[in-house]
Amino acid sequence: MKTKVPRIIAVSSGKGGVGKTNFVTNIALIFKSMQKRVLLMDADVGLSNIDIMFGVAPKYNIKHLLLGEKSIKDIIVNSMQGVDIIPASSGIRELTQLTLDQKMKIITELESLDENYDIFLIDTGAGISDNVTFFCSAAHDNVIILNSEPTSIADAYALIKVLHKEYGEKNFRIVINSVKNSKEAKDTFRKISLVSERFLGLSLDYLGALPFDDKIKDAIISQKPYVSLFPTSDFSKKLRDIAKELLNREVNFLKGGMQFFLKRALQVG
Ligand SMILES: Nc1ncnc2c1ncn2[C@@H]1O[C@H](COP(=O)(O)OP(=O)(O)O)[C@@H](O)[C@H]1O
Ligand SMILES: [Mg+2]
Repeated sequence: MKTKVPRIIAVSSGKGGVGKTNFVTNIALIFKSMQKRVLLMDADVGLSNIDIMFGVAPKYNIKHLLLGEKSIKDIIVNSMQGVDIIPASSGIRELTQLTLDQKMKIITELESLDENYDIFLIDTGAGISDNVTFFCSAAHDNVIILNSEPTSIADAYALIKVLHKEYGEKNFRIVINSVKNSKEAKDTFRKISLVSERFLGLSLDYLGALPFDDKIKDAIISQKPYVSLFPTSDFSKKLRDIAKELLNREVNFLKGGMQFFLKRALQVG
């Protein structure tokens, strides 16, 4: 067993378009500002876009790794902001369902990086596909992001249910996004936590809520990370609080991690 393994944080939502990629991109920068060495993996192999958020144009991506043409170190992009990125390849239909061999390859390559990072963030992508649940089940922390729309609540709950029933996950850390006020945040958390308690016997961990902010769109258009452009905004402050909350949570390093990943991959197939 290695003495130091990175904390693996998977960010998922069920429904697409609720703000996962924006969240991982900006929280990655906040962790970086807390002197953490951060690796950010775009695991949304169908519709990747972390590269766009950072304004980088990766030459290689996960496809080249899986084809055996490049190693993980070759495909990592060192962004100007100091966060390292593993780019996904967009629009590659074969990758929307990774095979066991492909998963093992990713795991083995990632494990070789353990010593280089403190935090390993994964943008798992939308849906509850096997790719998504695979990355979630290997993480130390499962962050679930949702907004107040009933469809977002339903899809986040569907993901929690699958991860709990099929993968035995018990800890879910909830972030409510795009809220107008604290009542909207509270009401949304209450709705998802009520169903999770009633039907799964789970109590969810509330990390915090992020306000709706029009400037997020402007930041994405300018391809510059939001928290660097607007470090003192309410959104940035709340995101820093969430980052601190998250790191304050205890995690069981025996549970997640790459070795665990491997075991799970072999069990679940
Ligand atoms: N808190 C927020 N306030 C306003 N717009 C947001 C917020 N979070 C995300 N968005 C917008 O929502 C859209 C989807 O965000 P994105 O991070 O790409 O979602 P996902 O990765 O979950 O599909 C983007 O256009 C982004 O600008
Ligand atoms: Mg996304």
